[in-house]
Amino acid sequence: MPIVYDGATGVFHLFNRRISYYLGLSEHGLLQHLYFGSRLNKIDRRSMTDLGWDWSETYLGPDDVERRRTGFYSDRSLMELAPHGANDKRGAPVIIRYPDGSRLTAFFYRSHRIYTGKPDLGMLPCTRAGDSEATSLEFTLTDQAGTVECRLTYTVFENLDVIARNMTLRRLTDSDIRVLRAYTLELDLPESTYDLIHFCGDWAQERFLDRAPLHDGTQSFCSNYGRSSHEENPFALLAEPSATETTGQAYAFGLVYSGNFDFAASVSKWKTTRVLLGLGDFDFEWSLGEELVAPEALLAYSNEGIEHLSHTFHDLIRNNLIRYPAVAKPRPLLFNSWEGTLLTFDTEKIIRYIDEAARIGAELFVLDDGWFGRRDTDDRSLGDWTVNEGKVDLKTVIDHCHRRNMKFGLWFEPEMISYDSDLYRTHPEYALGGRKVERSLSRHQLVLDSSLPAAVDCIFAQMCAVLDAYEIDYVKWDHNRSVAEIASAATPSGEVYHRLVLGTYDLIDRLESRYPHVFFEGCASGGGRYDLGMLCYCPQIWTSDETDPIQRLFIQYGTSFAYPPSTMGAHVSKSAVTGYTTKAEIALFGTYGLEMDPGGLTDSERTEIMKVNEIYHRYHCDVIQNGTFYRLRSPFETNYAAFMSVAQDRKTALVFFANILKENNRFRFLKLRGLDPVREYRIAGDQSVYTGAYLLNVGINLTRWLDEFTSFLFILEAVE
Ligand code: DGJ
Repeated sequence: MPIVYDGATGVFHLFNRRISYYLGLSEHGLLQHLYFGSRLNKIDRRSMTDLGWDWSETYLGPDDVERRRTGFYSDRSLMELAPHGANDKRGAPVIIRYPDGSRLTAFFYRSHRIYTGKPDLGMLPCTRAGDSEATSLEFTLTDQAGTVECRLTYTVFENLDVIARNMTLRRLTDSDIRVLRAYTLELDLPESTYDLIHFCGDWAQERFLDRAPLHDGTQSFCSNYGRSSHEENPFALLAEPSATETTGQAYAFGLVYSGNFDFAASVSKWKTTRVLLGLGDFDFEWSLGEELVAPEALLAYSNEGIEHLSHTFHDLIRNNLIRYPAVAKPRPLLFNSWEGTLLTFDTEKIIRYIDEAARIGAELFVLDDGWFGRRDTDDRSLGDWTVNEGKVDLKTVIDHCHRRNMKFGLWFEPEMISYDSDLYRTHPEYALGGRKVERSLSRHQLVLDSSLPAAVDCIFAQMCAVLDAYEIDYVKWDHNRSVAEIASAATPSGEVYHRLVLGTYDLIDRLESRYPHVFFEGCASGGGRYDLGMLCYCPQIWTSDETDPIQRLFIQYGTSFAYPPSTMGAHVSKSAVTGYTTKAEIALFGTYGLEMDPGGLTDSERTEIMKVNEIYHRYHCDVIQNGTFYRLRSPFETNYAAFMSVAQDRKTALVFFANILKENNRFRFLKLRGLDPVREYRIAGDQSVYTGAYLLNVGINLTRWLDEFTSFLFILEAVE
């Protein structure tokens, strides 16, 4: 059993072959953190908790006078669920407001149980694991008065160096209990010499890497945009300053959630580090009815650099998070109409697009925005999900697609409502913001109040009507503005942000259950909601509206720290900094699709695309979709971007290299990763045969003149 409890010492040990997580009960029943790192079969709890002062303070209560000098001083102990309002000032994960106004929040151990498998979170997305894959430890804790229960669960995975942490708060009495903060994750580390790496940006510049040393005080980032956001991502790393892709200790933190979140890393006066991650507490006040289930948090450890953390998350996402059953199967080559047509099209134009898309190899045609209501401009019709037959004869279009052996996909933006829509005219209360306040428009639209079950039901019924009437294989699920004015017709404002997300999860969950054959792709003005929550429902997410290939290198590179290429919506588009071959090769390291006016392509551009299509069909599924991804050169730190993917059997690999600024002749070798050192590999177009060991230790020779934006794609195949 990979979770062991030693009743004599009050210590719990969660482990797999490579990692150990130790926690213990303090004499007072608080949960103390002891260790998270490489596998250790034994620890010395005394030495870990006796921090050398000859004075110490006990935690609470009059009878504690007798218990001084216990070596437990909550301010400098490492904690699992630090109390709020006591002498520990490093920030607490949970804050409750009691009916008398008090916010003193502390949870004490009552019982625990250990079981195989992993809990499911009902209406919240989460990782899944069978009985042979994971073991869980569930604590039941209550506050001192027995008013609120906190169920804290840790799951250790057999083959992944990650711990999942879940938390549910439950009211045990009738009193008016308000939850002001409910962060799922706290990790206290006994050191502070770490770099914080997080992924920030903007529209068309998502997940740019930022790495800086931790220093005294709190370094934090969050989203209060109502979605996980372009601006920050609910994923971060702490790494030893010297840690590289392949060396050093590092931790990764991820939240399975698509709304507001908070991340904080606080360096204390004792030079410990406290990491907190969870549901954003911006404008959050939750009246605790029956229970509040907090989003799942994941924390991973590596003693062999950052790459291993990415691999852990990539595998977890592909095998334990995404629900779509055919996630590992080859995906049809997608063509999207948006950049070609925008909102201006009719049946004839779409038929022509389908024919031309077929000529460049498309196998799935996606009709983007513009097919519904009176949507000829983007200031109207969101919420009116009925086909605009006068504009596009959808049945004819779909039949045409299917006759050409292409699948058909349709765009929706279910969580939005236009002022100029029948839905708004009939149900103005479905728009967030209330009519008394001045509402900020963004892309001329309002946010649908999906905290209202009636609004969700209404959109569900409309979407079902379309999905029932037409043969649709794919849905693109967009979300084109962030949330502002959170006044709701019925939901208390402190609950709106979270209930909006719950409404969204409910809607997509119901649709997926009803249409299990439909493939859902997420999107939010590009990559504004690229997170573990949406990935549970959407095996791929549109990574960014930026399709300039060089910008894309940065975006996809940053995204790859948490998320595998198989999830990164990436299209070859018209954007013109490089030729089509480079653009297509970069898209290949995502999901690969096409998006432009296909009729506007020259013959030679078409040929360039078709060549990469061949590579897509031959290698993508084994090597990129289901293979292992390695970052070789960072565009954030060097003049290059280089990465590669290796098939699981290590017989085939694709390697991409690009430089940004021009470089004269110079020695330049690109050492590869992940190959089998004893195999021999042939590189397509190269006469020589190289051993894996040679390519790992010497690398591919790139000693040559490089004009700006020169790129190479190397295809390696093992020689049998
Ligand atoms: C934003 C998306 O990122 C685009 O791909 C496109 O679907 C537009 N919305 C449509 O409005």
